[in-house]
Amino acid sequence: MHKASENSSSERTKALLNIEDYHKKAKEKLEKMTYDFYSTGSDDQLTLIDNQAAFRRIKLRPKMLIDVSSHTKQDSTNCQTQILNSTMTIGFPCIIAPTAFHRLVDNENGELATVRAAVAHSTIMCVSTNSSTSMERVAEEHRRQIKENYPHSTSKLWYQLYVLKDRQYTQKLIKRAEKNGYSAILLTVDTSVPGNRECDVHNNFTLPDGIRAENLIDKDNNYVSKSYHIPFDPSLSWKDLDWIRSITSLPLIIKGIIHPDDARQAVRHGVQGVVVSNHGGRQLDTCLSTIDALPDVIKAVSNENRQIDVFVDGGVRRGTDILKAIALGAKAVLIGRPVLWGLAVDGTQGVYNILEILKKEFRLAMMLCGCQTIDDIRKNDLVVTNVAY
Ligand code: FNR
Repeated sequence: MHKASENSSSERTKALLNIEDYHKKAKEKLEKMTYDFYSTGSDDQLTLIDNQAAFRRIKLRPKMLIDVSSHTKQDSTNCQTQILNSTMTIGFPCIIAPTAFHRLVDNENGELATVRAAVAHSTIMCVSTNSSTSMERVAEEHRRQIKENYPHSTSKLWYQLYVLKDRQYTQKLIKRAEKNGYSAILLTVDTSVPGNRECDVHNNFTLPDGIRAENLIDKDNNYVSKSYHIPFDPSLSWKDLDWIRSITSLPLIIKGIIHPDDARQAVRHGVQGVVVSNHGGRQLDTCLSTIDALPDVIKAVSNENRQIDVFVDGGVRRGTDILKAIALGAKAVLIGRPVLWGLAVDGTQGVYNILEILKKEFRLAMMLCGCQTIDDIRKNDLVVTNVAY
């Protein structure tokens, strides 16, 4: 039970056993405009659908007669994962992806509710450039939670950066992240322009009064309009990575890589990690699903002289999905919508439960596949791709 809401495992969440249960409950609770903003993708939503379907096309080939009893010990650390050259440890290989405007689903606490659950689970929260709580306030709550409630938590914050046309302001965002103790910059590169999200057009999506992109507002500027227009810089290119490298010593991870050539380039530009991502199907429709893109990216990176971490997001809804991603070479997965469903249903407790469900399912999958450790998942040759049911 999450400490921040003791005894609040309320009747309403008791029957919610899995991510899809939370999704359905969130749909009941949210206004149509908000639900559509979070749930839909671009164009015909083929990539959105295929991200989940592709996991289902992958089958597991478990190994038997392996002692997995160490998982059942109370202080079992078998799911713990080291990332970024062992500079960070997470409770299990699952990270909270950056998503915009958490106060749209939890008006009172928004990102503060999410960060409390991240701390409780010793995982990383990626804070979006478009967060509805300032990065300073999220960092302050992160420190407070660790100090007061979870002194052993290894949770960290990563700052998700969109490069804006205003480069000076972009540089300021990076400096603010540094100053506030963020442990990495997660640079999103799949948004040269926003994708064609037709549901938002149909609904005439507008941000309600009081919900703003707090990081992008100062006395002279307010970069995100109520209709959610963001001044992304479409001129962003590889040379800008060198610019970002020159202004920060924080680890740099690039999010939005699909093509193996790009993964190779990323290594050569000195990044510490890449996230194989298609923005949850919200950008280029008919883009390859992420779990299908992962193997070629892994191959490309492993042929380079320097090794970096490869993460993947998009369509992760079960512990078996996490196991499949690890088996195919990912260090960890990121989850976007599941966190929003948890937040919508029950604030901090809801996000906590989402992470708890995925962790339990992941541990179960490890045991049933005969894996004592995360390394066993990689070594045991557990997945077979594209087998029809
Ligand atoms: C996102 N995503 C995203 N990515 C990012 O880099 N910055 C952002 O501000 C956002 N905002 C955002 C809002 C919403 C409503 C969604 C659904 C997604 C993409 C996100 O980080 C991640 O790549 C996907 O959500 C992963 O797919 P799943 O887990 O939602 O299937």
